[in-house]
Amino acid sequence: LLAEMLVVVATTQQPTTAPVDVGTLGQELLLPWQQNRTASQHLMDELNNCTSTQAEAILTRANTRNGQNIRYYIQHEKTYQANRMFYNTLPRTSPLPQTPYRRCSVVGNGAVLLGRRCGAEIDKADFVFRSNLPPLTGNFTRDTGRKANWTTANPISQLNWRFNLLSNKPAQKEKFVRHVRQYSGLLWVSAFGVKAATTVAIRAQRVLREKKLSSLAVVYGNPRHFAAVRDFWAYNGLSMRLSTGIYLTTIAMTICDEVHLFGFWPFDVSHTGEKLLYHYYDKPDTKMNPNLDPAFLHNLPKEFLKLVELHRRGVLKIHLETCQ
Ligand code: CTP
Repeated sequence: LLAEMLVVVATTQQPTTAPVDVGTLGQELLLPWQQNRTASQHLMDELNNCTSTQAEAILTRANTRNGQNIRYYIQHEKTYQANRMFYNTLPRTSPLPQTPYRRCSVVGNGAVLLGRRCGAEIDKADFVFRSNLPPLTGNFTRDTGRKANWTTANPISQLNWRFNLLSNKPAQKEKFVRHVRQYSGLLWVSAFGVKAATTVAIRAQRVLREKKLSSLAVVYGNPRHFAAVRDFWAYNGLSMRLSTGIYLTTIAMTICDEVHLFGFWPFDVSHTGEKLLYHYYDKPDTKMNPNLDPAFLHNLPKEFLKLVELHRRGVLKIHLETCQ
């Protein structure tokens, strides 16, 4: 899922890119789509048989014991003891509702978002998921929308490297708070992949409390939930490191009646043959940190084709169209 694990679990295995004709695939995704409610419900049931997203996705005082040793899901041999102080920072109960949201948008960070003017369509959802603290302001808004109810923050590449929260410097904290003001609801951090993630995740929570940013709450991903989702996908043909995008989509499929994906297109050309950068906010000279290069970390094309299968079955909708 997140970069920090990949730095730890570096392998020499190269991702296998599924052969795909992006032109034909794009044309197919642009055809009229209709949800198949039976298929959506079936998948929701199947996933809920593995784990309850509502109760388990986020660490709470209801699913964690005071004093419990939380096992890391990458560094399996390590645990973190949820002492009283830590335990008291967890939400009492799940912040997720018992009844599903009607419509959700899951927004990937693909450059395919640019120029499609889908911001309003994205924000039309009752609940919006976003990955890795993406920019939603200025010229981006028209294409990305502004709504963000569940935003993820990679503890290493974002909280540590980009915002340097471990330094505890007032200027860094300010910079972080200024940036995250554009989101509301949940700031979800995968704090229990590897040990190095926990301290900086806790720091992020403290900073938001210190700055009294009450519209946004840092919550920690539950490693047991992540492991259950990973097992589900392994059983369904994706035995690899899952990306944040597919993890959020899986969550959405369990807590939303209708799931709409935007910004998912892990190819360097569009379906019309136009050259694409990787993220919508990349500059032409943006260099990937080799430890964070998605080609190394994940097999996004293979994941994407799995999502295309779900689109075909009417379980979710992948948006590729121009909206306005
Ligand atoms: N994504 C995509 N096509 C792209 C870029 C991103 O489909 N060209 C999707 C992927 O599912 C990705 C998600 O959007 O996981 C969020 O993008 P990003 O934050 O860039 O994710 P990654 O860099 O892959 O980070 P992670 O390791 O946290 O998944």
